[in-house]
Amino acid sequence: MNNKLTLALTKGRILKETLPLLSRAGIEPLEDPASSRKLVFDTTVSDLQLIIIRGTDVPTYVRLGAAHLGVVGKDVLLEHGAEGLYEPLDLGIARCRLMTAGPAQWAYSGGRIRVATKFVNIAREYFAREGMNAEVIKLYGAMELAPKMDLADLIVDIVDTGNTLRANGMEPLAEIAAISSRLIVNKAAMRSHHEGIARIIADLSAAVGAVGGGADDAAA
Ligand code: PRP
Repeated sequence: MNNKLTLALTKGRILKETLPLLSRAGIEPLEDPASSRKLVFDTTVSDLQLIIIRGTDVPTYVRLGAAHLGVVGKDVLLEHGAEGLYEPLDLGIARCRLMTAGPAQWAYSGGRIRVATKFVNIAREYFAREGMNAEVIKLYGAMELAPKMDLADLIVDIVDTGNTLRANGMEPLAEIAAISSRLIVNKAAMRSHHEGIARIIADLSAAVGAVGGGADDAAA
């Protein structure tokens, strides 16, 4: 262990948009994560290191204090909860929508429906709120296949361009939540490392503002 602050980043699609934002905030990894198998990266800020992990693991690292800060999609926070975390900043990146989707012209005609998703908590809550009787089936990927193979009537998934849905003969139906990536902070670390964390929040906030991103529901 060292005395550096640790910022946990979500690998994949979000990372590609996170690195330019960090760069505008004056934070650059000393090695390119795209061409390295490393999971920990020192940065141009001498007291800050990055770790690059799966999105669903980011809240766990930050909640348990193994990382002081994290960047993660709002979808992950809604599904897995944000207990023990502050969410001070909407980074305005990796914007997409969490939606129900199904065959074109699908309409609820009562009775029990089957819904395939990896967002089981969000889906259960949504269909209960809508007064629809839904059996939620957990999948880990390729949700779009489920209606086609008659595993489910509908899916709940992330929609960006809508291309994946269209390519599989489906269309978006109802929006459940607008999604973007959020900065999260361990609550205890916010007190014990206040100066360093406040500086990072301020620098990232300025970088978000510089590209017109939104802190529209930063306290959510
Ligand atoms: C997401 C989502 C859809 C796709 C939607 O998957 O699950 O499959 O993106 O994007 P589109 O509307 O632009 O077609 P992703 O590629 O992030 O992989 P994942 O399923 O492993 O999360």
